[in-house]
Amino acid sequence: MGKSFREQLHLALTLLLLILGSAVTGDTSHSCYGIPGLPGMPGVPGKDGRDGLKGAKGEPGIPATQATRGPKGMKGEPGAPGIPGKTGPVGLPGPPGDSGMMGMPGEPGLPGSYKQKHQSAFSVMRQTSEYPLKNVPVVFNHVITNTNDDYNTTTGMFTCKLPGLYYFVFHTSQTANLCVILYKNGRKMASFCDHKTNTMQVSSGGILLQLGAGNQVWLAVNDYNGMVGIGNSDSVFSGFLLFPD
Ligand SMILES: *[C@@H]1O[C@H](CO)[C@@H](O)[C@H](O)[C@H]1NC(C)=O
Repeated sequence: MGKSFREQLHLALTLLLLILGSAVTGDTSHSCYGIPGLPGMPGVPGKDGRDGLKGAKGEPGIPATQATRGPKGMKGEPGAPGIPGKTGPVGLPGPPGDSGMMGMPGEPGLPGSYKQKHQSAFSVMRQTSEYPLKNVPVVFNHVITNTNDDYNTTTGMFTCKLPGLYYFVFHTSQTANLCVILYKNGRKMASFCDHKTNTMQVSSGGILLQLGAGNQVWLAVNDYNGMVGIGNSDSVFSGFLLFPD
């Protein structure tokens, strides 16, 4: 209130001086230099200064005592729900599930008994009136004996599983000239040729062969291929393990 009054007074005085000033300048218009002007009006107050530095930490307050402590306040509003708690312990295992579907049958197992493990013997027949193809294994398509399927009736080959000394023998019926050749792994081991002199003829041959596991043995014919397997005239190929290694 006092400051405002002072300002008003200041303004009034300034106006008065201005009026007087103009009167004076009017009278002295002939002079070379005018009288110095009156001081200008005070400027507007400056902006607030920047914040001062933070003050030092105050002394710790006097601990409250039973006497100074105020009365107990009213019960406050319930607070916001807290954050979820930690995961609880693992529960008990559930009951067992239903049984799965039955699996596919497994591969045939290895021969069971010791005796069977060390056996290899086959006798196979060729039951057809057609002459076999030349220079390829003659396929004996009918099994009489074939332990462990060592002789394959699809390929016409014997495959050795048990290394050892084997005996192979054949008895063939022929209606034309015939040469039977015994191969071991593609190598000619023995050849038996019989030129037909009767309407029906039987020829035979046999050898002992030392075989390693995986070795293959088969019979073949050449241009003389008159082998048949017809009623009362069989053609049989046999082999067996004589001594295992
Ligand atoms: C006979 O050989 C064929 C052709 O290699 C094969 O697919 C088949 O499984 C073999 N048979 C036996 C009983 O080993």
